[in-house]
Amino acid sequence: MADFRHETQRLILRDWRDEDWPLFWEGTNTENVMRWLGGVADAAKRKGAQDRLLSYKREHGHTFWCVERKADGAILGFCGLKRSNQAGGPIGMMEAGWRLREDAWGQGYAREAAEASLDLAFEQFGADEVIALTVQRNESSWGLMKRLGMRRREDLDFDNADFDEEEPVIIVYSIDRDSWEAHRG
Ligand SMILES: CC(C)(COP(=O)(O)OP(=O)(O)OC[C@H]1O[C@@H](n2cnc3c(N)ncnc32)[C@H](O)[C@@H]1OP(=O)(O)O)[C@@H](O)C(=O)NCCC(=O)NCCS
Repeated sequence: MADFRHETQRLILRDWRDEDWPLFWEGTNTENVMRWLGGVADAAKRKGAQDRLLSYKREHGHTFWCVERKADGAILGFCGLKRSNQAGGPIGMMEAGWRLREDAWGQGYAREAAEASLDLAFEQFGADEVIALTVQRNESSWGLMKRLGMRRREDLDFDNADFDEEEPVIIVYSIDRDSWEAHRG
């Protein structure tokens, strides 16, 4: 399958290389980044996550891509597209996701990468609608969903206690092609 690489103003979204993983985990496997993602991951969980990201690419041609900063080549995290696959959720729908190292927060990088991912979903990967999932207490993540013009889809919410035992529900946002085009202007 062809290599994937997509440039934005400040970032490159691209396929993973073996040497990215240690840098990715060094930056993102921290308490703050992993707060709503099951906590700091041990070696087995890290390997499982890597294998899943590589399998999405093989099976669908897209994944949560490696996000590299153009200015210095730093690996900031991931952002991209997968097919939703959580038990009880909207399985099979196009899902956008993001995770950046903490020193890259608050600079609009996640938004820049997510906007590119939504463009790609609609223009290159044939999506009619894109969803995003999080937990209610992950305000940074649903804040981004709102900034992207996604709307809350309570009808798609589902029970899951893996990420927030106190509020064991995954909340869903979505945007369709027309709304995305209107949002993009
Ligand atoms: C979710 C996450 C990716 C959001 O990152 P983020 O940096 O807050 O999001 P954005 O890229 O939209 O940046 C927005 C902030 O950058 C600021 N900003 C600075 N320069 C900017 C620019 N050029 N363009 C846009 N925003 C800019 C905005 O004002 C905003 O600041 P604020 O948060 O103080 O209001 C990040 O919090 C994260 O990685 N969390 C941990 C992993 C995680 O939980 N992932 C989601 C799982 S569901």
